[in-house]
Amino acid sequence: MKKDIAKTLFWKGNTLHLLDQLALPCKVSYKQCTTYTDVSEAIKNMIIRGAPAIGVAGAFGVVLAGIKASRLSPLEKLSYIKKASIVLISSRPTAINLKWAVERMAKVSEKSVNLNPQNYINELEQAALDMYDEDIAINKKMGEFGARLLKKDSTVLTHCNAGALATAGYGTALGVIRTAYKDGKIKNVFVDETRPYLQGARLTTWELQQEKIPCVLITDSMAGYIMKTNKIDAVIVGADRVALNGDVANKIGTYSLSILAKYHKIPFYVVAPSSTIDFNTTYGSKIVIEERSADEVLKINGKEIAPKGTAVRHPSFDITPASNITMIITEKGVFKPNKISTLKKVK
Ligand code: MRU
Repeated sequence: MKKDIAKTLFWKGNTLHLLDQLALPCKVSYKQCTTYTDVSEAIKNMIIRGAPAIGVAGAFGVVLAGIKASRLSPLEKLSYIKKASIVLISSRPTAINLKWAVERMAKVSEKSVNLNPQNYINELEQAALDMYDEDIAINKKMGEFGARLLKKDSTVLTHCNAGALATAGYGTALGVIRTAYKDGKIKNVFVDETRPYLQGARLTTWELQQEKIPCVLITDSMAGYIMKTNKIDAVIVGADRVALNGDVANKIGTYSLSILAKYHKIPFYVVAPSSTIDFNTTYGSKIVIEERSADEVLKINGKEIAPKGTAVRHPSFDITPASNITMIITEKGVFKPNKISTLKKVK
């Protein structure tokens, strides 16, 4: 029998348990968060990562803040949750799901603020658990929509990790690959290693191997050669934020991949739930790109790989223009990038 993949996160005994993604694939261990600041730190340090996953973790961060604030007066509760929301949202700036999820939870807190402490906590807890379940259901829906775009025995290429580990479960880009594999549509998956955090090498291959989905790891710089020499039927990636014109922020390297895919006439699919669409941002150029520490580029596994004092840039995401994207797959259907703003109407 196939073993279930370890849960990305779970809620038990007023504690948020996060699968430590920095320890994978060598060790399966969980970090326990009992305060919202624990959750914020875990998001900052990439113990949990991936846009929908940090959204759901952020939601439980609000539950932890609510537990702490439950005996305060209604006004004090609101101000405590406001402070916690600011801390949680600022943990990582690019993925919009975190802001979306925390703000949704803050609304639940506002609505429940006059309830007795236990009922107030129960409302928050239920809202976060609902978000967790919803995320998995949405991913499965996107999996169905996306799989329809692929033909039998496809070879696809993916970047970073947009799998179960980047969500509450099942995954966005890897969700499509999972469903398509079950439908006999995936022959092989090329996985970009994804420097500097190696989400592809450490996490995506780990997930695919557990599902027994055939995959081949390549370094990021090999993608062009692989597209030229192997028949790649589609590039499938996730997203951290989608602007209204269809530009997409995703893991650094996605933009280069999109150019390579366009040159080689390979369809380029972005898989993103509607919570990743930023209805307040018109163009990709307006999206704040997180710059992370130089050390993450200068070292691998704590070992220096460049001379001391080397200047470094470390943008963690880039923007893929709508014109390089074939389709955006959401839980509400498949959209041409320049039509993604019509989703607002069906929201
Ligand atoms: O820095 P990370 O690992 O959080 O970046 C993750 C990505 O860029 C994913 O592609 C994106 O969040 C979509 S995950 C379903």
